[in-house]
Amino acid sequence: MKIIYAKDYDELSRKAANRIAAQVILKSESVLGLATGSSPLGTYRRLIKLYEAGDVHFSKCRAVNLDEYCGLPEENTQSYAYFMKENLFRHIDIRPENTYIPDGMNRDMEGECGRYEETVRSLGGVDLQLLGIGHNGHIGFNEPCDFFPKETHCVELSKQTVDANSRFFPKREDVPTHAYTMGIGTIMAAKKILLIASGEAKAPILLQMATGPVCPQVPASILQFHSDVTVIADEDALDMLMENAPYLIQELPEL
Ligand code: GLP
Repeated sequence: MKIIYAKDYDELSRKAANRIAAQVILKSESVLGLATGSSPLGTYRRLIKLYEAGDVHFSKCRAVNLDEYCGLPEENTQSYAYFMKENLFRHIDIRPENTYIPDGMNRDMEGECGRYEETVRSLGGVDLQLLGIGHNGHIGFNEPCDFFPKETHCVELSKQTVDANSRFFPKREDVPTHAYTMGIGTIMAAKKILLIASGEAKAPILLQMATGPVCPQVPASILQFHSDVTVIADEDALDMLMENAPYLIQELPEL
């Protein structure tokens, strides 16, 4: 696991976007695994700028998203399908038919999970998977539990996750309680993983993820077993790692 220091959210976003752009420049038909949440917003803004400058093109890329809320149609402004269109897809030249996300309106859970897993497989797997991290260590929507779920599945969101996500909804009762998510196995099958984290609230979980035991109670800890993971985090998020395990961090500024 390579951990890279960024001064602030802006620098983090620039470093992450540059890596994604490099992937697409080197392999124009890349399969990008994409994420939602506040963390990737700046990265997407940077990617849009690189596209507008003519430095990167997405016309041959395929994009598969990690997860989607159950019960929200894609027109709902809080659905992840809507998020991706608004914050990235409609600003770049990716073809809509090359973007994939679980269908949160499909009530046939087993069918939807199997269909999505097959979609990812049929694309030949993910070349670069972008991840955020939940305060409890969730990746995608793989919540802490007693085992690592392998494939795409439907999860009941933890209270902590519903609380965290309620900031985007008018009322707490409006926050979906279930979601479809790629499994830990689906995520670990990506050739490269890029995890981004910003802000002091993520400091304890970054420390646990990188130095704690690998266990399903901290789902992101499994990333210690992936051979090509880059974590880019800003100074606030790296706070506890800098104090407890500075040797793990690359590109630390001279103090
Ligand atoms: C949601 C998403 C995750 C994301 C997490 C953290 O639960 N399903 O993919 O990583 O939130 O979000 P944020 O980046 O806003 O902290």
